[in-house]
Amino acid sequence: MEMFESEKQLEYINRIKDITDNRANKLGRELTYCVVTFGCQMNANDSEKLRGVLERSGFVTAPEGEADFVIFNTCTVRENANTRLYGRLGQLKPLKKKRPELMIALCGCMMQETPVIEKIKKSYPFVDLIFGTHNIYKFAELLYESLNSKNTVIDIWDKPKEIVEELPQKKTYSFKSGVNIMFGCDNFCSYCIVPYVRGRERSRKPEDILNEIKELADNGVVEVMLLGQNVNSYGKTLDFPMSFAQLLKGVEKIEGIKRIRFMTSHPKDLSDELISVMSKSDKICRHLHLPLQSGSTRVLKAMNRKYTKEDYLKLVDKLRQAMPDIALTTDIIVGFPGETDEDFEETLDVIRKAGFTSAFTFIYSKRTGTAAAAMENQISADIVKNRFDKLLKVIGETATAQCEKFIGETFSVLAETVSDHDQTMLTGRLDNNLQVHFTGGAEFIGKFCMVRLTKCKSFYYFGEMVSECEVASV
Ligand code: 5AD
Ligand code: SF4
Repeated sequence: MEMFESEKQLEYINRIKDITDNRANKLGRELTYCVVTFGCQMNANDSEKLRGVLERSGFVTAPEGEADFVIFNTCTVRENANTRLYGRLGQLKPLKKKRPELMIALCGCMMQETPVIEKIKKSYPFVDLIFGTHNIYKFAELLYESLNSKNTVIDIWDKPKEIVEELPQKKTYSFKSGVNIMFGCDNFCSYCIVPYVRGRERSRKPEDILNEIKELADNGVVEVMLLGQNVNSYGKTLDFPMSFAQLLKGVEKIEGIKRIRFMTSHPKDLSDELISVMSKSDKICRHLHLPLQSGSTRVLKAMNRKYTKEDYLKLVDKLRQAMPDIALTTDIIVGFPGETDEDFEETLDVIRKAGFTSAFTFIYSKRTGTAAAAMENQISADIVKNRFDKLLKVIGETATAQCEKFIGETFSVLAETVSDHDQTMLTGRLDNNLQVHFTGGAEFIGKFCMVRLTKCKSFYYFGEMVSECEVASV
């Protein structure tokens, strides 16, 4: 079944290639594309799949304003993600008038919402192709259809079908890669739209995941990030169920892989087995992203998170006991319906006690269709803004305290890019996921460098490379 589907898609890629070759001949240049990604790591991974199909189909990259084909991979987790998409579409409108051959496609989470599709049909009829999260594997087929149609091609499924393996993917980096291990979410946190737009939880087969990682390692990848909305419940839906910790043991055995990361972990599912596997491993990074959302047990209950403030703090203790050097990061929402000043103080209390190295902070956004959207006591904007500012201040303080501990020490850093701010510097990550800007040339990108940390800026460091050679073991 799976091979059949991927072969079918490869056949469509060949057909698109004939069309693009033809157009390129007429134009005297190659056709160009731009994939614009909103949202999380899962979307970033999906965008690599879109790029894989496009490059095999004869397209080459170009900036958004110049590309022949622009595709937006959308997010709908908060309202402002939706607003941003409409803004971008508005900007493309005059461009499409000037260059009618410009192709525009939309996909991703936002497209799984019926009112969004209605709005796009009405206000942005110039969009050529719309599809959703469940049928992204059909991208080649849908693009082929769109190239042969004058009307907007729309294909949205309300449920996922099979997981299709073996499709092309264009990796952003040659040395590190995200790998999906599961799709969807069954948790129904009361504020969250993800279970509605990404569907029920399903896991990829371990052999498919391990084969993908082996192939990545053969091609020079040294760091993998295992991706899922709730990786700790990996494997439950498989024909032969297995735990996430067992999967990690398999990944650890793969030669060439030196760092293993994963996200996101739900506190309610984080097992002792996982802590034990992590603490024994020298490949699994000393970092855990463990979304707290709120520190108030009352709010956590209303959020349907299934743990208490005390459960969370106990878990943090257990983790620090097993791995004293572990870095913890988190997600926090302020302004959930009914959140009182006392509830918010509880959140600050957990932040101070847990000692996060950084946190993603969000203002609660009402998502139609979720349980929280129907709750009374939605909090006014000025109160939320006040709490949000306070939250940032406290996180800044705890993060600085955590980061300062390591000043003067030397660690292994995987160099990732030339620094955005200074061409003579590189940006990389420590094992614990913190970013470091350090002296060095582009020839070190993709290599492990020993870097002495000299300065800390709460969420990142400056450092100096002390050893210019790649270290054999990290
Ligand atoms: N409003 C604000 N933040 C949200 N998140 C998810 N849904 C919402 C919402 N409706 C945040 C959570 C989650 C992260 C990915 O996004 O903190 O962990
Ligand atoms: Fe959303 Fe909760 Fe699932 Fe995360 S675990 S995707 S916050 S429903």
